[in-house]
Amino acid sequence: MSIESQPIQLNLDAIIDSYGASPAALIQILLDVQKENKWLEEQDLVHLGKRLNVPLPRIYQIATFYKAFSLTKRGRHLVTVCMGTACHVRGSATLLDRISEKLGIGPTMTTADGRFTLLSVNCMGCCALGPVMAIDDTYFSNPSNADFDDILNRYQ
Ligand code: FES
Repeated sequence: MSIESQPIQLNLDAIIDSYGASPAALIQILLDVQKENKWLEEQDLVHLGKRLNVPLPRIYQIATFYKAFSLTKRGRHLVTVCMGTACHVRGSATLLDRISEKLGIGPTMTTADGRFTLLSVNCMGCCALGPVMAIDDTYFSNPSNADFDDILNRYQ
């Protein structure tokens, strides 16, 4: 599915310089790039390797080990539905189906306009609110179908 969003202007060198171009800061730099760009592009990883003097395979080893990193393009906002046990018994599968139908995409997919990427995860650490979903860093406890439009309109 193509993503037609405007490219994010990532200032990779500024991020690298903010850590003194230290190889010890590799994971933190990757986290900052992931947060700003929403994913890790190959050209940025190559540049990062050259600036830090870290072999590219080592960078990919880290980028593929941690779930926080994505090597595929993501939308501007992450919609995350918890499928952990506590949420599951409270109907998270139905919540995932409802938000999936609303967005017109399945888990791991990105909307055609590049606004949202849908993911499922295991436990978001707020089981009492289950079933729970989040958009970026904001959590929602079992929003109704009527609430979806209002919630989604907050994220462009
Ligand atoms: S199981 Fe969903 S937040 Fe813990």
